[in-house]
Amino acid sequence: PTVWIPRDAAALAAGADDVADALTAIASTRGLSLDLARNGSRGLLWLEPLLEVTTPAGRVGFGPVRAEDVAGLVAAGLLDESTALDGLSDALVAHPLRLGLVEQLPYFARQQRVTFARVGLVDPLSLDDYAAHGGWAGLDKALAMTPAAVVGEVLESGLRGRGGAAFPAGIKWKTVAAAPAPRKAIVCNADEGDSGTFSDRMLMEGDPYCLVEGMAIAAVAVGATYGVIYIRSEYPHAEAALREAVRRATAAGHIGAALRGKGPAFRLDVRRGAGSYVCGEETALLESIEGRRGVVRAKPPLPAIEGLFGWPTVINNVITLASVPRILADGAQAYHAFGAGRSRGTLPFQLAGNIARGGLVEAPFGVTLRELMFDFGGGTRSGRRVKAVQMGGPLGAYVPESQWDVPIDYEAYAAVGATVGHGGIVVHDDTANLAGLARYAMAFCALESCGKCTPCRIGSTRGVEVVERLVAAPVSLKGAQEELLRDLCDTMVAGSLCAMGGMTPFPVLSALDHYPEDFGLPRRAAA
Ligand code: NAI
Ligand code: SF4
Repeated sequence: PTVWIPRDAAALAAGADDVADALTAIASTRGLSLDLARNGSRGLLWLEPLLEVTTPAGRVGFGPVRAEDVAGLVAAGLLDESTALDGLSDALVAHPLRLGLVEQLPYFARQQRVTFARVGLVDPLSLDDYAAHGGWAGLDKALAMTPAAVVGEVLESGLRGRGGAAFPAGIKWKTVAAAPAPRKAIVCNADEGDSGTFSDRMLMEGDPYCLVEGMAIAAVAVGATYGVIYIRSEYPHAEAALREAVRRATAAGHIGAALRGKGPAFRLDVRRGAGSYVCGEETALLESIEGRRGVVRAKPPLPAIEGLFGWPTVINNVITLASVPRILADGAQAYHAFGAGRSRGTLPFQLAGNIARGGLVEAPFGVTLRELMFDFGGGTRSGRRVKAVQMGGPLGAYVPESQWDVPIDYEAYAAVGATVGHGGIVVHDDTANLAGLARYAMAFCALESCGKCTPCRIGSTRGVEVVERLVAAPVSLKGAQEELLRDLCDTMVAGSLCAMGGMTPFPVLSALDHYPEDFGLPRRAAA
């Protein structure tokens, strides 16, 4: 039978390579034949390393498996021919690590896997596997359409930027398509820097051709001939997977001199960042690719008009681009059918922090934080009460319990002062101190600020000091410090050039508004 052991970074961190090595060693010493495949992760991270074996009924999971468990699994019949032909032996059925059919595990079965449909299922670098699971169908459709019709399809799907800003992808593409220029580019922002996020990484490691295909479709739509994937240096496995995927896709003629051997030329490069959070901001990212220090550029001009090397450029996040092949393959309406309000389709949510069942949950917009945290996540790992949840990365607001039932969509969240961002969810239990977290938000901004504008460069450093003074002040003097902090936050929101300084106040103000007691302030009556 085929045995699957993920080579996703999260699985590797949990010891997947040790499990694979142990299995290989036992098979070779016992003279057993071993068909070992390395997949991406299914996203059930608390079960990693999640070993799967192919049976006539489907793939059965065992996990979390440690190297020392392997001998017992083999003795129970893991590698026996009968497992592939008739299913599991009684000993394997009774094995304490057996989880059942992976796709029937409630955590997985309750999801709506659209963009992540292949992740964890296929061998990420196998072109045969990719094609056998619907790969290239979207690009083939795009190549048979006019560029304007491809843009129209993306517009109609309602897809919005998944990096966090939620700008309609189709409008961005239309702007680039309409810009008259001899050369245009597609840039993929793979500088996934938000705390608690890993969906870009999982997609790139688990289904890299999907991103390649999405970028090729974007190229067809806007008339671009050059693409760059800008990936953070902290993602060596994703980078290696992408470089190999680009090499193989080029060698096989899917991209390169001609798309799928018949379409226009599209060359794709992979560039590695150097550890700066602000290089995830699109103009700093362009500076970095062009070989300069990652400092934010003033907009306008928008990158859609003057981007990489001055060319009109589509810059989209990994998940935005990876959503496109399915939109083209299944039609805009199929994608648009998912979602809530003006937030169409699905979002891969990432459950992290103090959570019992951390992992990736792809669900349509409209799901609630309570469902994600408890039905999927199982509450805190510590078993204590959830106190606060930060959604949308280090610049996202802390969401209090009164908002956990708000259906997640960009507008509904904005209406309550929360942020959806890139779908990262970091859970804190009741030992968390929100004043400390507010201080951390300012300290993070001070560390990562590119230094171009004063509200962010100076404001974040002053912000750390004011939070410290507010916490230390006697009750009679707290009011003045709170006023100062709110005033500083106002200045940062209104006066910063980019989201780094402009959004750092979100966690700070939400901590102040919803958890005043952590600052030693009285709780106010709800408005
Ligand atoms: P933005 O709202 O300025 O722009 C969004 C995108 O739309 C940009 O690509 C912009 O160039 C484009 N755009 C705007 N108007 C356009 C037009 N008329 N035609 C064509 N394109 C147009 O937001 P920004 O500063 O790019 O991103 C901020 C967001 O980034 C925040 O909401 C935050 O959630 C997110 N973020 C995500 C991180 C991650 O790791 N994924 C890290 C940090 C922040
Ligand atoms: Fe640079 Fe901060 Fe200003 Fe953004 S807000 S341009 S990161 S100094």
